Amino acid sequence: MTARGEWARAAGPVLVLLLAWPFGLYAVELGLRGLTERLWIESRLFGRQTPVANGAIALHMVTGGIITILAPLQLVPALRRRWPAWHRWAGRVTVAAALVAALGGLAYIALRGTIGGPPMSAGFALFGLLMGLAVVQTVRFARARDIRRHRNWALRLFVLAVASFLYRLHYALWEIATGGAASNDAFTGAFDRVQVFAFYLPYLALVELWIRVRPEPRL
Ligand code: HEM
Repeated sequence: MTARGEWARAAGPVLVLLLAWPFGLYAVELGLRGLTERLWIESRLFGRQTPVANGAIALHMVTGGIITILAPLQLVPALRRRWPAWHRWAGRVTVAAALVAALGGLAYIALRGTIGGPPMSAGFALFGLLMGLAVVQTVRFARARDIRRHRNWALRLFVLAVASFLYRLHYALWEIATGGAASNDAFTGAFDRVQVFAFYLPYLALVELWIRVRPEPRL
């Protein structure tokens, strides 16, 4: 592939990385503070009497932030081709962190539930379960050297890894467009109810479409 082609294919993932970067750093920072400070004074996500749930959500944020930043880099063809060792090692860190983020989020839902109640808990629990599945399949097919399936599952994992950022992006755009219509602080508005699935399912559907248009991975 020409150097120009390589740059063109890096543009999408790099753009996602630049957009998601501040949110990834925010998540890592808040998670680290959650692990070391008494955050229940300033954040409702932490409780005075709930050390296990506090630890789960704090670890969840640190690892979630890490995958938000690392996952787009895994899609940059030039990095994969020129530094395959980077792809392997960053890949290992990404899947390990994704698993901890998913398990931490699921543990938090089981222990404390979400602010928006059962509909939000259901949407986020499915999100966590899909992330766990994508991790297992991405690793399984990489180990089996089945590059086509590995790439398909890695694309699904990428979408899930940046979906938490997309969730916030949807809210920001909605606020600009409508001033926050059908959304409230308890996350029980019609927009909030749709959002609990809309930040990942449509993007997963787009990945399925892409896989059908381009079934063979380009190395
Ligand atoms: C993909 C990377 C992820 C990142 C960067 C991330 C980050 C965060 C952050 C920063 C918060 C705190 C709320 C805020 O400040 O906005 C949070 C809350 C939460 N996350 Fe994640 N998360 C990720 C993935 C997941 C997954 C896979 C699940 C599903 C198991 C999940 C479930 C939750 C839940 C249930 C909460 C608390 C919701 C509430 O009651 O407000 N997250 N996450």
